[in-house]
Amino acid sequence: MVEKVMETLNQADEKIMGGPDFPVGLVKRRKEIEKMLTESKSLQCFGRFGLVGMGGIGKTTTAKSIYNKMHKKFEASFFCLNIREHAGYDRGLEDLQAKILQNTALNVNKDKRAYDIEHRPQKIEINDVEHGKSILSSELKGINALIVLDDVDHESHIDALYRPLYTLGAKSVVVITTRNRDSLKREQLTEIYEMQELDKENSERLFHWHAFLKPDAPAHLKRVSQDVIAACKGLPLSLEVIGSSLYGCESESDISLWEENLRHLQENENIFGVLRISYHHLEGNEKEAFLDICCFLIGKHEDIVCIFLEGCYRTGQKILDVLKSRSLVSTDAEGLIRVHDQIRDMGRHIVREGKKDRVWEEETANDVLEVRDAFFLNIYCQFEICYMMCAESYISVERREKRTEDGCLHCVVFQ
Ligand SMILES: Nc1ncnc2c1ncn2[C@@H]1O[C@H](COP(=O)(O)OP(=O)(O)O)[C@@H](O)[C@H]1O
Ligand SMILES: [Mg+2]
Repeated sequence: MVEKVMETLNQADEKIMGGPDFPVGLVKRRKEIEKMLTESKSLQCFGRFGLVGMGGIGKTTTAKSIYNKMHKKFEASFFCLNIREHAGYDRGLEDLQAKILQNTALNVNKDKRAYDIEHRPQKIEINDVEHGKSILSSELKGINALIVLDDVDHESHIDALYRPLYTLGAKSVVVITTRNRDSLKREQLTEIYEMQELDKENSERLFHWHAFLKPDAPAHLKRVSQDVIAACKGLPLSLEVIGSSLYGCESESDISLWEENLRHLQENENIFGVLRISYHHLEGNEKEAFLDICCFLIGKHEDIVCIFLEGCYRTGQKILDVLKSRSLVSTDAEGLIRVHDQIRDMGRHIVREGKKDRVWEEETANDVLEVRDAFFLNIYCQFEICYMMCAESYISVERREKRTEDGCLHCVVFQ
């Protein structure tokens, strides 16, 4: 009995999605959306909701908060995180389909159809996206589930992951987060929630916590920090990253640094320009390590990333700690390295437009191969583990073959 209770509690805990260190205004946002989810559901069909807004505005954070609050009310639930990123991998959509099945239909059916349990497979193999769609439709039929499809960006994501959910039970709720409103335009959603920027008060609170670890700015930095906050335009990601990158710069003599950052912020209106400030604050090896992570190491275990960085820059954990303290990198509950997609894209932009010394996908490989004649492939072979990562995507430089066996390039560094 006790074991059964513990097992149930543990299962419930697994479902909890992590949140920000300093949440601001999240409860208000969550309540507004919860109200929408519960009030505007039609009786005939399950609720289908969109959370729309630009990258970094807090869609995933808000959806996680809703999920944490509501998931226990459903027979099954699953938060399908970062679809855009995963869909880019080989068999990415098939893997996501399998995860949805594993966490919803197979879980519920295991309990419901106890008579059948010995004959049911624990894991369903999905051959291709079409196969996945038909299994999802049939296995999810009639189940009342809460499913979040996070960062949907393309018709193919909707087709593979959302439309097969149409057979869900009428009490189900599906939440889609996207920065691309167009990707939802053909779907008849129950309602769409447009995410708003943080208001002045919440922007200040978020920034102050990250920059000063307290709710207020010191008197001599009050004016300049107000201007920095205004330049972040209520975008939580910018407030967090810029605040973190100025953490520790509180002395009287730091005012000029703040003013320099403010000028840079005001001159660079777009998000890459804003986030780039935090890159400029890094030291030499920290910059290199940050770019390595953006290009090759997202989703790898922190221990492996540390070994990689130690091998390349002599220190691993120390660099990682700096990147984490600047809110550029984080580690998820499974110990895997995460980088917000806007920050990752900023890092890759720096490599693509400037350094051209790393290649992580074919398009960039072609660009780099065009401008670089002689290459020396530096695959960090002194470190077995990194060598393995590179071997995954080995390219033969002499013969200028750009493709790997699976057609992808993941981890190649040029010198
Ligand atoms: N209400 C909030 N309070 C504190 N931090 C937040 C809040 N909303 C978002 N953030 C932070 O801002 C960053 C971007 O949020 P995220 O939800 O990933 O944005 P999106 O999914 O829209 O790209 C995250 O690091 C998150 O921790
Ligand atoms: Mg997101």
